[in-house]
Amino acid sequence: MCGIVGYIGKRNALPILINGLKRLEYRGYDSSGIAVLQPPDIWMRKRQGKISQLELEIEAENPAGTTGIGHTRWATHGAPTRENAHPHFSCGNKIAIVHNGIIENYSMLKDELMAEGHLFISQTDTEVLAHLIEYYYTGDLAAAVRTALNRVEGTFGILAVAAEEPDCIVAARRGSPLLIGIGDDETFMASDGSALVEHTRKVIYMEDDEMAVLGAENVTIRTLQDAHVHRPAEELPFRTSDIRKGGYPHFMLKEIFEQPDTMVDSMRGRLLIEEATAKLGGLEGFWDAIRGSSRLIITACGTSWHAALIGEYLIENFAKIPVEVEYASEFRYRDPIISSKDTILAISQSGETADTLAAVREAKRKGALALGLCNVVGSTIARETDAGVYLHAGPEIGVASTKAFTSQVIVLTLIALALGRMKQLSAEEGARIVNALGSLPDLTRKVLANVDVVKALAKKMAVHNHALYLGRGFNYPVALEGALKMKEISYIHAEGYPAAEMKHGPIALIDRKMPVVLVAVRDPVYEKVLSNIEEVKAREGWVIAVVSEGDTMVKHLADEIIEVPAITQCLTPLLTVIPLQLLAYYTAVEKGCNVDQPRNLAKSVTVE
Ligand code: G6P
Repeated sequence: MCGIVGYIGKRNALPILINGLKRLEYRGYDSSGIAVLQPPDIWMRKRQGKISQLELEIEAENPAGTTGIGHTRWATHGAPTRENAHPHFSCGNKIAIVHNGIIENYSMLKDELMAEGHLFISQTDTEVLAHLIEYYYTGDLAAAVRTALNRVEGTFGILAVAAEEPDCIVAARRGSPLLIGIGDDETFMASDGSALVEHTRKVIYMEDDEMAVLGAENVTIRTLQDAHVHRPAEELPFRTSDIRKGGYPHFMLKEIFEQPDTMVDSMRGRLLIEEATAKLGGLEGFWDAIRGSSRLIITACGTSWHAALIGEYLIENFAKIPVEVEYASEFRYRDPIISSKDTILAISQSGETADTLAAVREAKRKGALALGLCNVVGSTIARETDAGVYLHAGPEIGVASTKAFTSQVIVLTLIALALGRMKQLSAEEGARIVNALGSLPDLTRKVLANVDVVKALAKKMAVHNHALYLGRGFNYPVALEGALKMKEISYIHAEGYPAAEMKHGPIALIDRKMPVVLVAVRDPVYEKVLSNIEEVKAREGWVIAVVSEGDTMVKHLADEIIEVPAITQCLTPLLTVIPLQLLAYYTAVEKGCNVDQPRNLAKSVTVE
């Protein structure tokens, strides 16, 4: 959600900033802007729309300047207009800032500053910060930022520059990620490693309530209370090739097709074949506490919440530990009953989702053990939880999550397997699951090879305005996820339901214009799903069924079928979700939608 970049060095800042913003565009893309220091002034351009539009606008100008900051926005306070785009300026245009997060007490501060004569031109909370820094500025930007931030309530990742101090950028964070990239005689800043990796893999992750003063050759970090911080640089855990489309028309398609490999990466070194179990280094030393928990609460948002639902089935099945799944946004505000006997597991691809983070903090405050399951290394949730497991799925750039979902389900399977084997799961059962996991990447390749069937179906789907997705058991969360993918990127109104619940309401919607996507693989609830298909057909619904290879019964009932190879029941979601990802993708492409940057969405939602 919103992206920040900064550069200070010897090269022209503008192309570096534009390129960085393009790398971050997946985080927010309704408006953007850039400021470059040209003492005694600050050159600035911003505009509504995509970075490419900003680039076109400034192409001819190419301002010289080796220090600059940039921002790509996902609007929270104020519409996505040019005025509300960042950078924001102080009255005299001598201080500029870019900001991610929310200044909660902005209205009180704004009244105060207006009474002092400050003039505001935007509706954003961020502009308040620019004026507040100006208010305290006496020639030392770092000191003014520190004083200003000590008056602010809310979250921020900011970069600030002052016209009078062209040799420094001041960065600060609380609750919104900020990384410093160390180059040779140049320093880069970004809210996300994907904007840094082309320049350097040597990075410092800033922590909450820290401030950094950045020069081309020096980085000084102190806390907002002015205590010295020493933090060595780390290596970014991915490469430039990970953030390129690699010949695919969209990141989403690339990420769908990467899944056989990302599945392997999530399992690498974690399967113990001899012992028929899994080994997760990040949870070593915590297993006794986890299996001794009175219950496990899994909390997440969006796609990660769907993975959590599958996790509930897996863990209850293998380990017989009671599991509850909660939307993080609900959990944090409903005063949940939590004790030190509980374990909370937060699932978040980005590791930055504000609601999930708040749920972790709430559970920790009440004494629970907090575990994290994140993809982004060094992310806030990964750092704030007591222990956890990384997905190792590589950067996910498409806004609609795909490969992170399958990796989440794999890691949840590994956790369930390890817990199960510590409790009551037999070695024979364990071995069956370990073997099935081993066969998964090849079976996924088989599903992906069937892409043309899905492509043809997508053409027919694209003319519809609504769709219903149904599944049962392990595949009920897959129905939810399939529907979410469809609505996110094609804007077709799609609802996921447990198949048997259809008759308690959604059945009223079924007529010949209603596509009904059913997951009907051969599992213990197969016969029941057959009855659900009959119910839809009796009302002339258009049935698309995801079935087990060689199925004949559904073939007679459904209008369209997509086959997936057979696998042990608990792993079927990992295969059945793939055609649904592809169906959403090709339907959106057919409708001419912007697949990687769907309207109104953001990759990482760092506000409530
Ligand atoms: C946003 C994204 C979704 C994602 C959700 C949770 O809504 O658009 O794709 O599933 O956030 O994100 P997280 O990073 O916590 O998994």
